[in-house]
Amino acid sequence: MSPTGRFITFEGIDGAGKTTHLDALEQAWRQAGHEVVRTREPGGTPLAEKLRGLFLHDAMDPLTEALLVFAGRRDHLQQVIEPALARGAWVLCDRFTDATFAYQGGGRGFDLNVLGTLEHWVQAGRQPDLTLLFDLPPAVAAARLSAARQPDRFEAQDQAFFERVRATYLARRAAQPERFVLIDAARSPADVAEQIRLAMVERGLA
Ligand code: TYD
Repeated sequence: MSPTGRFITFEGIDGAGKTTHLDALEQAWRQAGHEVVRTREPGGTPLAEKLRGLFLHDAMDPLTEALLVFAGRRDHLQQVIEPALARGAWVLCDRFTDATFAYQGGGRGFDLNVLGTLEHWVQAGRQPDLTLLFDLPPAVAAARLSAARQPDRFEAQDQAFFERVRATYLARRAAQPERFVLIDAARSPADVAEQIRLAMVERGLA
């Protein structure tokens, strides 16, 4: 029997507090003896990390933005994600294609059908096994982002942009309820950690 890995993604608006919980889950899985590949998008390979720099900081039109992020995703899937899953690793990815639908589709208003076509070409049917969606009101998320931080092109957007991003994430979840776990990210870090722990136990991913 060939090994099958697990592909888990974390999603949510900027300031939702994903990082602490990604760190904790990565550590828990390592302690349980799994091979863990922790990665992120945009990025995850040398080429895709170069594209990330352009994507986050250079002005461009929405189609260019979508093509760049999918170009990086193609490389990431081929170089890192697919080989890891084939050897049975557990892949933990900070953002994936749901972010493209939410930010480029919802936030920027780019055509969701075109994004669906790109998703189909680039991913050849690959989808995360499970997606943790960190959900909270944009005003709460904005207050959490450090004032000292130099915002990238997305973090610099106004609250209405993040309302659209949030609504699009929630619509993705409504369309594919079995793939998503909704995390109430407005709660305390301890409470969020417990929501994640329970979701993982329920799905045999603890
Ligand atoms: P992230 O790595 O979460 O930011 P940071 O490391 O600064 O916390 O994500 C980078 C930004 O890119 C984030 O604002 C969301 C955006 N993004 C898109 O617009 N489309 C995408 O497909 C992805 C993966 C991210």
